This record gives sequence, structure tokens and C-alpha cells, in this order.
Amino acid sequence: MAYKNLMAPKIFGTWMSSGKYLPLLVAIPAAIWLFVWYLVNGLTIPEGEIVYSKLFYGDYTIDPIFTLTFFFMVATFVMGCAKLIKSFQATPGTFVVGKAEKPCLLTAIKDTIVTEILTHSKWKDCGEVKESDQEKFKGHLLLFYAFIALAVVTGIVATGHWVGKVIEWIAPIGHTPMHLYNPVKILANAGAISGLMGLTFLTRRRMNLDTSKSASSFYDWYLLGVIWTVFVTGVFSELLRLAGVANLAYPVYFLHLVAVWMLFAYLPWSKLGHLVYRTVALVYARYTGRLPMN
Ligand code: HEM
Repeated sequence: MAYKNLMAPKIFGTWMSSGKYLPLLVAIPAAIWLFVWYLVNGLTIPEGEIVYSKLFYGDYTIDPIFTLTFFFMVATFVMGCAKLIKSFQATPGTFVVGKAEKPCLLTAIKDTIVTEILTHSKWKDCGEVKESDQEKFKGHLLLFYAFIALAVVTGIVATGHWVGKVIEWIAPIGHTPMHLYNPVKILANAGAISGLMGLTFLTRRRMNLDTSKSASSFYDWYLLGVIWTVFVTGVFSELLRLAGVANLAYPVYFLHLVAVWMLFAYLPWSKLGHLVYRTVALVYARYTGRLPMN
């Protein structure tokens, strides 16, 4: 079963399958953020120091919109994974010769996460020989750690912001924009550099692929394109803010929000969805004894 068809509403699977629907995919978040911008100040550029929350308030716009989008994405994934497991259960069971202990679900999850995801060991096993496979491995790893770093930064800022409303001394750790020497900002910038390097490896590899053997589809380019847009607009939001160019900084930050929304909302239908389905499939294979534990 193609995993893009696992998820409802399936129309998103169709829109994600061809470049001709890309304007539609962009138009949805663009309309959402333009509407917010219009409501806040009638689509004008705020005066004075560049502070993005002057335009897109955290509490009333960013947080509710991204929280809803996040839960929409998680609910879509949960329903899709339930469908996937049901399809596995319909296939014949595994027969084990001799005595074998069945792992508990938690052990199967832990084993999958440690051996398959954190170290990307299986990816390396598959293709250590070719230079392009090494680029793929390095690229994925750099991008993966970039996302972890930026997720940690988001977690710290959100905790400072929300918990800081109750425990006041915590609040300053969530204040943005941050000083460049603030450890949290250093982690954010390290994540940005790691992400851009990872994207460069992955893009170079895809551009150098032998098209007679493996052609890249819109599906492959969509994901790279959206992640590039998220990172480039994020970095330029920072650089243009530091340079004090408000007329460009706010529109670029708007594009950052559009790209981040696309990355999250369409995740279940994108190639990145394979991470989740692959993990579920690997946990299931270990849990049912089809794959050995490490
Ligand atoms: C997958 C999620 C996201 C990724 C990968 C991402 C990535 C980035 C990167 C690489 C940067 C430049 C370096 C830095 O971190 O300062 C950046 C900047 C920024 N991002 Fe994001 N971002 C994401 C989500 C968001 C969200 C949801 C918001 C909404 C509040 C946001 C707001 C910002 C802001 C305000 C900046 C500019 C920072 C500054 O002016 O110094 N990002 N982002």
C-alpha cells in the first residue's frame, strides 16, 4: 500500500503527487498568515526595532495555529498507523523454530529507536560503498541533528514563555530575539549550519544521480524544497533582523511561517512520513519476531 494513500483526507495525497498542485499547497498557509497579518495591522510593516512578535503574536496567532496544525498532523498519523498495523495483521504470522522470547512492546520500540534511528546504522550498512550513499548518510544525519537542535531550542523558548507566566524567574530564558552569545541562540545557529550542510549534501547527491537508474520525482524534490525554504527563510529572518532591514525581514519571516506550516501540515503525505511508517513497521517486525532484537 502506498503510504501517501494511507491518510485521510486523500486529496492531500493527490496534491502532493505532482508539481502542478504546488501553488495550491502554498496558497493555503499563505492565506492563513496573510489573514493574520491583515488583522494585526492591515498588511503594513511595523515601525521601530524588528521584533517578529509585533506582527505575529505568539499567544494569539503562532501558538494556536501551530498547535492546531500539530494535532491535525498527529491525528492523521495515528489513524494512518492504525490502518498500517491492521494491514500487517491481515498477513500470515511468523513461525519461530525452537524457543524464542517475544519482546515486550517497549523493548521493541527502544531497540528500533536506538539501533535504526539514532545512529542510522542500517542506512550506513546498506550503502557504505558508494560515495553518493555516504553523502546521503552524512546529509541525513546532519539534517536530523539540526532538527533535534532546533526542537530543543523551541522547547526551551516555549517553556520559558509559558511556564514563565507562573514561575517568573524562568521567563527570561524564553525571551526573543536572543543575544548571539546566548547558549540557546548558539544552539539554534549550530542547528542552522548543520541543516544547511545536510541539505547541501542531499541536494548534490540527488542532482548527481544517474537518471537512467533512479529518477527523482516531485515527491523527492518537494521535501528537499520545503526544508530548504524553512532553513533559508529562517536564516534570512535572523540576518535581515540583525541588519535592520524591516521591509524585507517581515516578509521573509512570513515566508518562514508559510514553509514551516507546509512542512508540518503535509508531513503525513510527504516523503518524511516514511520515517514514521518505517519506524512503526520496524517496531512491529521486532515485536512479532520477524526481525531479531539487537
Ligand atoms: C521545523 C520547524 C522549524 C525549523 C527547522 C526552523 C528553522 C529555523 C532556522 C534554521 C532559523 C535560523 C537560525 C535560528 O534558529 O535563529 C530560524 C529562525 C527563526 N525561526 Fe524558525 N524554524 C522552525 C519553526 C519555527 C516556528 C514555528 C517559528 C514561530 C515562532 C519560528 C520562528 C523563527 C524566528 C522568529 C526566527 C528568527 C530568529 C532571529 O531573528 O534571530 N521558526 N528558524
